[in-house]
Amino acid sequence: MAFPATRLRRLRKTAVLRALVRETTLGPSHLIYPMFVVHGSDTRTPIASMPGIDHLSIGHAVEEAGEAAALGVAGVMLFGLPASKDEQGSGAWDEEGVVQLATRAIKAAHPDLFVVTDVCLCEYTSHGHCGVLRSDGVVDNDQTLELLARTAVAQVLAGADALAPSDMMDGRVGALRAALDEENLTETPIIAHSAKYASAFYGPFREAADSAPAHGDRRGYQMDPANADEAVREAQLDADEGADVLMVKPALPYLDVIRRVKESTRLPVAAYNVSGEYAMMKAAAAAGLLDERAAVLEALTGIRRAGADIVITYHAKDVAKWLK
Ligand code: PBG
Repeated sequence: MAFPATRLRRLRKTAVLRALVRETTLGPSHLIYPMFVVHGSDTRTPIASMPGIDHLSIGHAVEEAGEAAALGVAGVMLFGLPASKDEQGSGAWDEEGVVQLATRAIKAAHPDLFVVTDVCLCEYTSHGHCGVLRSDGVVDNDQTLELLARTAVAQVLAGADALAPSDMMDGRVGALRAALDEENLTETPIIAHSAKYASAFYGPFREAADSAPAHGDRRGYQMDPANADEAVREAQLDADEGADVLMVKPALPYLDVIRRVKESTRLPVAAYNVSGEYAMMKAAAAAGLLDERAAVLEALTGIRRAGADIVITYHAKDVAKWLK
């Protein structure tokens, strides 16, 4: 009987050997933790669709960011819920807007924590779309760019370390870059939501951010889940406009897209493990159907293995605790 000369099982014999040949690492330094900041003093309200995640007033957001920092989580990503919404989403660029206030407070308390701000209008518009509407109800791309640029400048002036535009308007990376250059804010990296799919997995987030579109959907600006070549084109355009990191979102149904964006651009890639992916894990674990720790670590390792340098995940603090 002929035996194969190469036996891969030889490399799986002991934990030490498995660690020596491990190809992918996952640690808190790869993770960014998204948070939802609200106005008001001393509020911490659980978000029903996302067990373990709360709406945080500024003081609590500072505290939560501090916990993440102490655990070694690299950064936080801030989403804001304004006190009131309007047609244009003016809360987004208000100097005293909730994300600007939170950014200042978090950077003052935890200067080494990397603070990324979400650049979008959907949390701030009364109709819930990611931009301003024309009279026919369609989002006006170019008018929206101006408002996004204003938002970006306000966030950087408040101390944001990086910007993450999530609106999916055409040309927004270039518009942000130009507006920042004009203010001499040339050093802020842009983490562009380059391949953002029109996904059912954003459901819990829209409840958390109170940002479900009042009419219609986002298929006019977000990507068709069936397309991957288009993701590569989106990524290339963002790179050409001055994006520093390219994001794929959601993560788990799009591992092939993460890999293709990585291989075609060789730029740093971020993957957003979104609210619905988080909620699924939590629900399965709560029902006793999955071992939460093992399942989450496996899923996030898979996202890293696919090619993501950075993983944005609501599991960040748990992962950091588990890996301690
Ligand atoms: C919109 C935005 C969305 C998310 C972040 N920013 C979803 C949407 O298009 O409604 C989703 C994040 C998540 O599900 O965790 N600008």
